[in-house]
Amino acid sequence: RNEIGKLSWQIDEVDDLLGGGIETQSITEVYGEFGSGKSQVTHQMAVNVQLPKEVGGLHGSSMFIDSEDTFRPERIDDMVRGLPDDVIDATLEDREIEGSAGDEAAVDELVDDILDKIHVAKAFNSNHQMLLAEKAQELASEHEESEYPIRLLAVDSLTAHFRAEYVGRGQLADRQQKLNKHLHDLDKVGNLYNAAVIVTNQVASNPDSYFGDPTQPIGGNILGHKSTFRMYLRKSKGDKRIVRLVDAPNLADGEAVMRVQDGGLKP
Ligand code: GTP
Repeated sequence: RNEIGKLSWQIDEVDDLLGGGIETQSITEVYGEFGSGKSQVTHQMAVNVQLPKEVGGLHGSSMFIDSEDTFRPERIDDMVRGLPDDVIDATLEDREIEGSAGDEAAVDELVDDILDKIHVAKAFNSNHQMLLAEKAQELASEHEESEYPIRLLAVDSLTAHFRAEYVGRGQLADRQQKLNKHLHDLDKVGNLYNAAVIVTNQVASNPDSYFGDPTQPIGGNILGHKSTFRMYLRKSKGDKRIVRLVDAPNLADGEAVMRVQDGGLKP
């Protein structure tokens, strides 16, 4: 078994909350209401995972399972350009791209290189999404010996298709069973290939909600058991977001503040 890796958010307060960053060989569930920034987190992680280890990355590539058509290459572009100069410099050097953070041609090349290493797969429905989790294992296997092995599997959103397709009380058990299988497959990729798994989830505010509690993620306790790290995002003033770590093993519950800006997630 490989040593657990820590993937930095590039935000000290959040990293401190997590004891360094999100962990490989674990599932991190990021949940919150509409517009709280869940997709921003998955995009930022797809960038951060590629950074060299000495600046908090995992020197890996990622697979992004996109179920709501949220993946935006332009957002990745902004986030790469928005990295601190010393992080850009270290990453350019790591990739043997000549130049530095102020060098437009070098940064353009870096953006292209980073986009190339995000494997995006659109999930058309829940069955397709489940199939993609199995495909993720094949992809991770193919890249295992490459220079940039898969170190992140992001699923945005984990639950949207399931929620839309399995409606009503009568289908809840079925939905949970499928979600459980899906999470099991995702977990397996994380464990076998030493990858971090990050999934997004909306909070329940609908009739199918978990105890009707708007601070509870969809999927209730089954997801609760599987997602080792649960992070609740909520909006604050302007671009501010509060990140709360909930029920993490061996870590204290706590909160951190971050901002969603043009250049990505910032302190
Ligand atoms: P749902 O998918 O609707 O559940 O929301 P979500 O939690 O995934 O939210 P998402 O990550 O899409 O965040 C949307 C918020 O991020 C917006 O309200 C903006 O505040 C912010 N945001 C998105 N793109 C940009 C950008 O290019 N610049 C800045 N400054 N903010 C952005």
